[in-house]
Amino acid sequence: MIPPKVLVVEDDASMGFFLCEAMNKEGYQASLVPNGEEALSRLRRDEFDLVILDLKLPRMSGMDVLTNIKRTHPDATVIIVTAHGSESVALEALRKGAYDYFSKPFEIDEMRIVIRRALEKARLQQEVRELRERVEGKKGLQNIVGKSKALQGVFEVIQTVVDNDVTVLITGESGTGKELIAEAIHYNSPRRASPLVKLSCVAIPETLLESELFGYEKGAFTGATKRKLGKFELADGGTLFLDEIGDMSLATQSKLLRVLQDKEFDRVGGVEPVRVDVRIVAATHRDLTQSVRDGKFREDLFFRLNVIPIRIPPLRERREDIPLLIEHFLRIFQARYHKKIDRISEGATDRMVNYAWPGNVRELENVLQRAVVLSRDSVIQEWDLPSEIQGQKGEAFPRTFHLDDERSLGEQMKRLIIDVEKRLILEALDRAKGKREEAARLLNLSIKTLYNKMKRYGLLSR
Ligand SMILES: Nc1ncnc2c1ncn2[C@@H]1O[C@H](COP(=O)(O)OP(=O)(O)OP(=O)(O)O)[C@@H](O)[C@H]1O
Ligand SMILES: [Mg+2]
Repeated sequence: MIPPKVLVVEDDASMGFFLCEAMNKEGYQASLVPNGEEALSRLRRDEFDLVILDLKLPRMSGMDVLTNIKRTHPDATVIIVTAHGSESVALEALRKGAYDYFSKPFEIDEMRIVIRRALEKARLQQEVRELRERVEGKKGLQNIVGKSKALQGVFEVIQTVVDNDVTVLITGESGTGKELIAEAIHYNSPRRASPLVKLSCVAIPETLLESELFGYEKGAFTGATKRKLGKFELADGGTLFLDEIGDMSLATQSKLLRVLQDKEFDRVGGVEPVRVDVRIVAATHRDLTQSVRDGKFREDLFFRLNVIPIRIPPLRERREDIPLLIEHFLRIFQARYHKKIDRISEGATDRMVNYAWPGNVRELENVLQRAVVLSRDSVIQEWDLPSEIQGQKGEAFPRTFHLDDERSLGEQMKRLIIDVEKRLILEALDRAKGKREEAARLLNLSIKTLYNKMKRYGLLSR
């Protein structure tokens, strides 16, 4: 576990030392600053779980420091230390948002308890914040970007299905956002507090898929040493997202049909049927009506699933969404890689708007991630895009290089080498389909050297 970080703001050196020692003994990581100005500058640079603030400080008063902290870090947990007899000041600090206070001299044990409680509260608040972000921020409708007629139509359908339990079938090419829409439906529905369970039906052998869906009883087959719950039971009360449903075998399809009709099923090797309350959202990149015609998909199951169809058109049929998506992903990746990108050059934008995007939004997302990692300055240029988007095969490198009088030759050489190395590493990783050993071999590097370079260039999280 990461030790909680505590900032002690105290001008009396021996008192500060004593407090820090006590914090460190508790397993916290304490830092000491002697005045308010330094406290504020530390808080700008570092994150702390708790601030212990003496109210009597030189120059800037503790009360002013508190006001300042609360303005820039409204969620910060601050404990005040006051001189004996100044309770009215302490009360004012509480009104200004301090969590608690001690008056000097204080009992170290009492202080320990208050601090432990304050840290616990801070941790809980943090958890609530993350949960809220997950539910509203990341999984909300506002996270689905697009103003095209097609996508607006999709939003309208979503609004009509969130409040009831109708089965939804989402179709669209790979990378168009099927899973994202399924998440939006679940997290905006009354089932949002119950689980969203996902299962991809592609590339799972039939018997395994059935035990994944319905679970099995102990002893149902060799190796079934204890009962295992299937996704249907795990999703009880919530939503089951069946991805790539078009790839399900006919035998499993008929078992699925029974659950949809009777709301019950048997575990593999089970004797008693199990009843569940599950909403089904299914997705496929296949044309299911064609699969029905070909005898690969049961027509009755198709009608059961296709109560509300949502078709997400490929990106090339809604090019007006491309600039918005570029902006959206740019924001995300700038923050992730701590880079400041002001804009994308007109040429690069044109290329992207006119490209065919066979991999749809996922491909666009990857291209922007790569461009943000690669870009050397605050503008993303055409040559930061993969060659197939630049439209000229094998021309992914900047062909011209202008000397920059503002920078030393040494610095320019370093930047250029880093740039070239990054591009070649990415190219090798692409060709090796992400396998580092293979990429290292292509580059004639040891795995360790490749790893170190990837680490230095921020490529490890790819
Ligand atoms: N309209 C959109 N706005 C923002 N992000 C999107 C949008 N559509 C898709 N994405 C993002 O693109 C990526 C691919 O989306 P998703 O996984 O939902 O696609 P999919 O249709 O399930 O693809 P596949 O068929 O390959 O599984 C995800 O990171 C998703 O967040
Ligand atoms: Mg998917």
